[in-house]
Amino acid sequence: MTQAPDLPADIVTPDPETAAGYRIPDWDAVAGPAADFRTFWEDRAKELEWYEPWDTVLDDSDAPFYKWFTGGKVNIVHNAVDRWLVGPTRNKLALIWVSEDGKETRTFSYYSLNREVMTWANILKAMGVGKGDRVTIYLPRIPEIMFAMLACAKLGAVHSVVFAGFSSDALKERILDSESRLVITADGSWVNGKVFELKKIVDEAVRHAPTVENVVVVKRTGTEVAIDPLRDHWFGDLETLPIAKGQCATEVLDAEDPLYILYTSGSTGRPKAILHTHGGYMVGTYTTLKYVFDIRDEDRWWCTADPGWVTGHSYLVYGPLLNGATTFMFEGGPTYPYPNRWWQLIEYYGINILYTAPTAIRSLMRFGEAWPNRHDLSSLRLLGSVGEPINPEAWHWYHRVIGKGRCPIMDTWWQTETGSFQITSVPSMPLKPGSGGKPFFGQEAEVLNEKGEPVPDGQEGFLVLKNPWPAMMRTLYQDPERYVSTYWSTYPGKYLTGDSARKDADGYFWIIGRTDDVIKVSGHRLGTAEVESAFVSHPAVAEAAAIGLPHEVKGNMIHAYVVLRVGYAPSEDLEDELRQHISQHLSPIAKPDHIEFVDALPKTRSGKIMRRVLRARALGLPEGDTSTMDDD
Ligand code: WTA
Repeated sequence: MTQAPDLPADIVTPDPETAAGYRIPDWDAVAGPAADFRTFWEDRAKELEWYEPWDTVLDDSDAPFYKWFTGGKVNIVHNAVDRWLVGPTRNKLALIWVSEDGKETRTFSYYSLNREVMTWANILKAMGVGKGDRVTIYLPRIPEIMFAMLACAKLGAVHSVVFAGFSSDALKERILDSESRLVITADGSWVNGKVFELKKIVDEAVRHAPTVENVVVVKRTGTEVAIDPLRDHWFGDLETLPIAKGQCATEVLDAEDPLYILYTSGSTGRPKAILHTHGGYMVGTYTTLKYVFDIRDEDRWWCTADPGWVTGHSYLVYGPLLNGATTFMFEGGPTYPYPNRWWQLIEYYGINILYTAPTAIRSLMRFGEAWPNRHDLSSLRLLGSVGEPINPEAWHWYHRVIGKGRCPIMDTWWQTETGSFQITSVPSMPLKPGSGGKPFFGQEAEVLNEKGEPVPDGQEGFLVLKNPWPAMMRTLYQDPERYVSTYWSTYPGKYLTGDSARKDADGYFWIIGRTDDVIKVSGHRLGTAEVESAFVSHPAVAEAAAIGLPHEVKGNMIHAYVVLRVGYAPSEDLEDELRQHISQHLSPIAKPDHIEFVDALPKTRSGKIMRRVLRARALGLPEGDTSTMDDD
């Protein structure tokens, strides 16, 4: 093994026991560039059940609008739920859920999961939800979020889950854009022992979203809420109605029928609605989870992500259920009430695989080893990382203190757009802490310069993917031009990831970060444009620019530059007020760490804010080419 000169040199060879137990054939042999990805994916699709087989594995006649398994009839719910209802898997636990305070546990076998999903589907159907209709889901991490998502999919409706930490403005925008007629929410959610009033946020959003006819409210916190008798319905009342009872058939859909849209931040303008479909997404999430984590019948799998983000969609809800696994959902976060919360849960529930984000590891690391060391973590077999690059220090802590040196860490690189892992490690492979590993089976990745030429090994460039894959987004909902221009126009025929990376001589990829104006804060994806527009909605702000700067725990933090309107003066109070404003108008996760009041922002002559220059100034680096700067 060799290493690029300035890349970390340590390599962790797989534990022979784990590697020997890993049931996937030799990675390099299967994943090599010559592998015929169509055959690979077709074979995987055959492992799942289809109402009718496909005619064509990959239809690339209208590229980049790729279609997979065309002609095939399927429904992801058939494979995630229905097919487990026969035989012993009927009684297997599909979901174990634990409340934030740890006092409540709810478990669902595949049989009872199906009953819950049917109840939800019956109710949605009675409200007029059918194939192709969009449904906005704004729920906390409770079992109902899974039921609601699956119920939509079962009926062929398109779910649009909005992370229940987004503001009413952000929610409203997503409801309006998707033209949802139904919103599913809860009275509130528990956040570190306090109630976050979700229903209030929905009320505010819906006031400006006239498409919404019905709001279904799950009781979670017992908080008092305003109920509009014509629009709002307690789920607890609905489920007792006769229409909620009984069987509900799973709709037979085309492989390419939409499954969901998920709004995510882009470099400019409004969030983009990424569209995923039933057939390809099903094959992609099923296969990647199975191959990378070698998920087993007896496993208890814990993905700590919120279903409001893609990681929760693919690897908390769909991927595990498609594999007939037991998925674990915890309502709370890692440090409440104490920083041993997760370790306690792993011990008590015998979790075998933990899949989480580097931010969480870094924040837990700060509390020291004594917290995890109080617990028996011997059930763990594998660990996973996602959402942002993991620094070698955090990697080693995770490996040594949590995995006791026995559990390989699967660093999985992917995006909302890709739907499933694209660059990843596998248990049998020598691991390089800090590297995302190699392209998944059937995928090829490249690092290019601005002209589209591959850069030499070890050098930084733009990361692209060369082959289409089943779980790829199909388009941006209602914006196909932006789909083509954002992802497929820079290097025709290649998918532009928006990340910069390096490849080393062994073919391992090292992700550096975003090359666009997306900022990953604690693994959450935010756009500078969204933060800036939240700023200018405050009466004191004339203009604002947001940039991401390195942060020890969060990976990146938001640093904002603000130009005030005439008549307003900088003050600490105003700074606090603006921070609150961002929290309320976008999300608490978008709260800037620093706000700097300035007289003007560096701009190009055409009026574009030069964030690159701001970033360089903040980091004390050379400002680079400023020839296009307007210095009047
Ligand atoms: C970043 C999250 C380094 C990357 C699944 C990507 C990562 C963006 C990794 C997508 C990883 C994700 N190592 N960086 N293992 N995984 N990223 O859409 O910048 O929320 O482009 O999807 O997260 O973020 P998204």
